[in-house]
Amino acid sequence: MKTEILFMQQEDVIAAGILNMGKVLEMVEKAFYLEGHGEIINPPKTVFGIPIGSNPQSHFFSMPVYIGGDVNRPGIKWAAESMANAKTGDLPMGIDLVILSDPVTVQPVAIMDGMVITAMRTAAAAGVAAKYLAPKGAKVAGCVGAGVIGRTMIMALKQVIPSLEQVKLCDLNLQKAEKLAAEFEGEIQVIPTNNVEETVIDADIITTMTTSRKPFVKAEWVKSGAMVIQMSSWEVEAGVVKKANKVVVDSWDQMKENDLSVIKQMVQKGDLDEKNIWALNEVVCGKKPGREKDDEITLFSSRGMGCLDIIIGDYLYKEALKKGLGQKLVLWDEAK
Ligand SMILES: NC(=O)c1ccc[n+]([C@@H]2O[C@H](COP(=O)([O-])OP(=O)(O)OC[C@H]3O[C@@H](n4cnc5c(N)ncnc54)[C@H](O)[C@@H]3O)[C@@H](O)[C@H]2O)c1
Repeated sequence: MKTEILFMQQEDVIAAGILNMGKVLEMVEKAFYLEGHGEIINPPKTVFGIPIGSNPQSHFFSMPVYIGGDVNRPGIKWAAESMANAKTGDLPMGIDLVILSDPVTVQPVAIMDGMVITAMRTAAAAGVAAKYLAPKGAKVAGCVGAGVIGRTMIMALKQVIPSLEQVKLCDLNLQKAEKLAAEFEGEIQVIPTNNVEETVIDADIITTMTTSRKPFVKAEWVKSGAMVIQMSSWEVEAGVVKKANKVVVDSWDQMKENDLSVIKQMVQKGDLDEKNIWALNEVVCGKKPGREKDDEITLFSSRGMGCLDIIIGDYLYKEALKKGLGQKLVLWDEAK
């Protein structure tokens, strides 16, 4: 029997609806809900690095997943990050693929570009965390990093926090911050800067999504009642985590395998008890509370879960079939 795979290039993924942040937020929240109800198999990602000279490095991530419930979809995200690309700017830093399979026959059914999915789902995970943990009536967001995730983070915050009036957007490269700020003209006020302290101090919601290799957010800049969202694992200093009343992660099992994670380092040193690190799925399912007080500081840190890519990939694949998008590739006419 002929086995066909639907190949979806980036344009098809976009035409299938990936840029609809409202829909992506809905699916990401559903993934955390299903995870909290034991419907998802999502082992920690396997990672290896390839040194190119002594530095920088390329990293490859293998992220196999099964999503149960009414989704019933196995799949894998094959992700990669190149520090060389980050330096030259010729290619995106992160380049990803999403592969979906049939749960019964195990045939691969779709291969698609995963780059836009990654950008959207990463910010949407932060958005779901903000829905439960951000201060009520938050007006100012201080966002550090005006790259790919910086763009989708503003999209997610705008959607989840209707009271948001202003985004301070910081990048070491001021021109990048200015360019991204201009994209949001007429939608929300975005003020570009290259000063981290000015961005973070007094912000109701602080988000970091940079390629920095060392912490740059200081505890004394985080005001009472703020929410801190960290997309790399080492952008806030340990004092910020210490100051937080609630520490929530996407997956502790996965984060504790990352030696560079500030949260893991604090647990190792005995500065933070593992019991006080909650999973976002527990908050989404109501097993742990979201924000309870106006003056508490909440922190969300993520490393990225494959189940978010697969639930979205499954939705996009079904939309592509309905809309006639993508290109059919034949794996074999008759299996030998
Ligand atoms: N948690 C997740 O699920 C997840 C998923 C994807 C990417 N990420 C991480 O998010 C980060 C950003 O990814 P991206 O694709 O947006 O990268 P990007 O290269 O598009 O953008 C990163 C930006 O950070 C800026 N920057 C670096 N150091 C800075 C500093 N100290 N202060 C201010 N700006 C600084 C750079 O100039 C650049 O504009 C990466 O570390 C990546 O690993 C996390």
